[in-house]
Amino acid sequence: MTDPQLVLTERVQQALADAFGAEFADADPLIRPSQFADFQANVAMSLARRLPDRPKPRDVAQTIADRLADFPGTVEVSGPGFLNITLADEWIAEQAERMFEDPRAGVPTITPAQTVVIDYSAPNAAKEMHVGHLRTTIVGDALTRVNEHLGNRVVRQNHLGDWGTPFGMLIEHLLDIGEQAAVAQLEAGEGTPYYQAARQKFDNDEAFKRRARERVTTLQSGDPETLRLWHVFMDATIRYFNKIYSLLGVTLTDDDIAGESMYNDMLAQTCADLEASGVAVVSEGALCVFPPGFTGSDDKPLPLIIRKSDGGYGYATTDLAAVRYRVHDLKADRILYVVGNDQSLHFQMVFAAARMAGWLPESVSAEHIRIGMMLGKDGRRFKTRSGESVKLIELLEEAVDRARTAIAERGYDDTTREEIARAVGMGAVKYADLSLSHESEYVFDFDRMLAMTGNTGPYMQYAQARIRSIFRRGGVDPGTVTGPIHLGEPAERALALQLLDFPAVVERVAETAEPHRLCAFLFDTATAFTGFFETCPVVKEGVPPEVRASRLALCALTLRVLHTGLDLLGVPVPDRM
Ligand code: ARG
Repeated sequence: MTDPQLVLTERVQQALADAFGAEFADADPLIRPSQFADFQANVAMSLARRLPDRPKPRDVAQTIADRLADFPGTVEVSGPGFLNITLADEWIAEQAERMFEDPRAGVPTITPAQTVVIDYSAPNAAKEMHVGHLRTTIVGDALTRVNEHLGNRVVRQNHLGDWGTPFGMLIEHLLDIGEQAAVAQLEAGEGTPYYQAARQKFDNDEAFKRRARERVTTLQSGDPETLRLWHVFMDATIRYFNKIYSLLGVTLTDDDIAGESMYNDMLAQTCADLEASGVAVVSEGALCVFPPGFTGSDDKPLPLIIRKSDGGYGYATTDLAAVRYRVHDLKADRILYVVGNDQSLHFQMVFAAARMAGWLPESVSAEHIRIGMMLGKDGRRFKTRSGESVKLIELLEEAVDRARTAIAERGYDDTTREEIARAVGMGAVKYADLSLSHESEYVFDFDRMLAMTGNTGPYMQYAQARIRSIFRRGGVDPGTVTGPIHLGEPAERALALQLLDFPAVVERVAETAEPHRLCAFLFDTATAFTGFFETCPVVKEGVPPEVRASRLALCALTLRVLHTGLDLLGVPVPDRM
């Protein structure tokens, strides 16, 4: 364990237990980074109020400080009863060395491993994959990477919208224009015009409407030829999704597809079971669950409709079947739904209904990771200038084009330039998404995401590439550096102390499902490195060999932390920029 905050927490808890009794062994010592020292512990104030003889907080602080006399560093009482804690340089250096020697850079593997089901991306096949799905895809993928790195078993579930009444008209339209033409259009990402053309006919052509309705019935009854046509439609659509996934470098594969259609056969049973157990009741002809605590604007209980009065199933029915499957068959300990903010009520009600049914036991957590809306520069939902939804592949290609222009003058050969442009373009888009808290709305702005300064993808990529160039200049392979680490300069100490936080940050990202915490940490790390590099020459002539070795070790450790961190976010890491 290298995380100073954790080490300190345990040490202060021990001191509290020794001085005031075992019941304080779990008290939160309130360790925080401090302006005046490395950390401060504020526990003495609150503790003084809880102790029967009401001692002065300063005296309580002194008692704790006395018990920390053997702590590697200095502990001072200040003000009304703060403890200012400064770690010894040797202790920091020793922890940094341990981290340096550990191939996982101190990141633990969680035991016992959890099974984490992550529902993400989930575009709708009947419509163009839109920019909102970009965020759920990117955030979800970062969460899978972080959880896998910690040793959890991750089951990705791409809950595609691939079923339901629109497929009647979509299949009929496919027959009208011919399979080949339809496939070509869908593969090219022209799902929106395809859908619009089908819709147009459905609204204006009675005969087409009738055919579309009949087609829904034959699809649902499992007619082989209709299913074949559905597959033709879906396969072409999925090929387009895969183009986007591969451009983005997300880890989703066809094996992770678990679309709405997968639950089709389970829906009747889902409703029957809920009705039999009394969890669902018929209300105004529809089968509904009324989870307690949900009311509409008129204060009436809000229904979660699981079978409409016409007998049709809906989005909620599928999600209830999915919860049951994920808990029972996939053996989930935790289920993360990385889905737009606007579906918050839906998920709260689905989770509540599943708990009522006993399908989601208390031991399993289900969390909606709310994704904020992507906005255009005008502050409205992100659209093209003419008001249409933006074609995702074109957006991503534009990011690569802009990155290519930005690096055009740097004298790379064509292949290298292409590689870097792609890494920078995709890195910029992904990092912009990840660096903000996932529920905040966010303005899609190429100029800002591609900026070389600030907390951006290109800046972070550059930060690690710059460290690689130090090694190239010094003719040293970062893999052969051995240390040991000595912390002479304040900037060296600050960098080492910063690096020690890495394992705790990764764990925290998994716990909270908040990748922006990792971005913030990596940005602070890059900043600490800049501070170090400005004041501490590494491979310059005249640097004594043991100083050089120590500084190279700090560089190598920083590189490893930045590289691993960017990998965990799914941001590509180019060797040079
Ligand atoms: N396809 C849905 C949409 O685009 C998202 C599905 C999310 N996952 C789920 N289990 N409901 O809005």
